[in-house]
Amino acid sequence: MNEHDSVIRVNGVVKRYADLCAIDGISFAVQGGETVGLLGPNGAGKTSTMRALAGLSPWDQGQVSVAGLDAATEGRRIRQIMGVVTQHDGLDNELNVTQNLELFGYLAGVSRTAVRRRAREVLEFFSLTGRATDDVDDLSGGMKRRLAIARALMIDPEVIVLDEPTTGLDPHSRAQVWEKLAQLKSAGVTVLMSTHYMDEAAILCDRIAIMDHGRILALAPPHALIERYAGGQVVEIRLDGAERQILRDALRASGVKWRELGALFRVLDGDTDLTALQELAGVRIERRATNLEDVFLRLTGKELDDE
Ligand SMILES: Nc1ncnc2c1ncn2[C@@H]1O[C@H](COP(=O)(O)OP(=O)(O)OP(=O)(O)O)[C@@H](O)[C@H]1O
Ligand SMILES: [Mg+2]
Repeated sequence: MNEHDSVIRVNGVVKRYADLCAIDGISFAVQGGETVGLLGPNGAGKTSTMRALAGLSPWDQGQVSVAGLDAATEGRRIRQIMGVVTQHDGLDNELNVTQNLELFGYLAGVSRTAVRRRAREVLEFFSLTGRATDDVDDLSGGMKRRLAIARALMIDPEVIVLDEPTTGLDPHSRAQVWEKLAQLKSAGVTVLMSTHYMDEAAILCDRIAIMDHGRILALAPPHALIERYAGGQVVEIRLDGAERQILRDALRASGVKWRELGALFRVLDGDTDLTALQELAGVRIERRATNLEDVFLRLTGKELDDE
């Protein structure tokens, strides 16, 4: 990557809350037109990182810049080119849908005529035109989320930061948001987003940063993460009559490492010889291609059960 093409640059950022290090020395860059996803367990530091970028909370060490503007001193100018969708919508319940958009536009310095036109455009873009005069309270959760993203587009941003854009949405609404984000990407908008959905990350992101404990553990394209951290296949074993303990004993005797996820036993090394298990009655063994969830569990999860 040519670092001069980077639209977002985060360099050695540290953010502390009393004794807790929410961001523990993070550095990364997002190129113009690229979509980068932050993936990590609750408390990993995703929101803290995005809030620093958006100028919503100060940090203790390091540098952050957006489009060459220093976020520590040029927050106002950054907000003119960067849309921000926070984890919680922050919509004004006293105002209707259109008023929410227009007020946001005025506050961001967009002219009166441009605000009106832009509000109509973003409502159309998010299929909310029919709701233009509804109270925000009357919208469903998914509609509110779409409105929050629509609001971030009021400034026609070059960069957009979205903290969990589709959390709580039904599959249809999520797919709608994905389509809109894909359209923004085609238009050349640079995107930094966080998500807890592995499919969303795989579909939308050019590169994914796996975060935990305020650090980036890995940053690469989805397929590269899978190749590097998850291997080719995993084996999943379900009980189909056999006792849980019998399967555990058989796995231990085979010398493999496994993880129990509810009713599922997962052996991460798909090349393991499981002949002995195949002879066991009452278990169903399936091999499947690895995915980002395997990467996530490997990098952020507990050590595999190996006793
Ligand atoms: N205002 C605050 N005061 C004190 N601690 C905070 C504050 N905001 C965040 N933290 C702590 O900082 C750490 C990182 O939180 P952050 O919200 O960035 O995580 P996250 O990755 O966004 O998690 P989630 O997936 O739950 O949204 C957590 O341990 C959290 O408790
Ligand atoms: Mg968060």
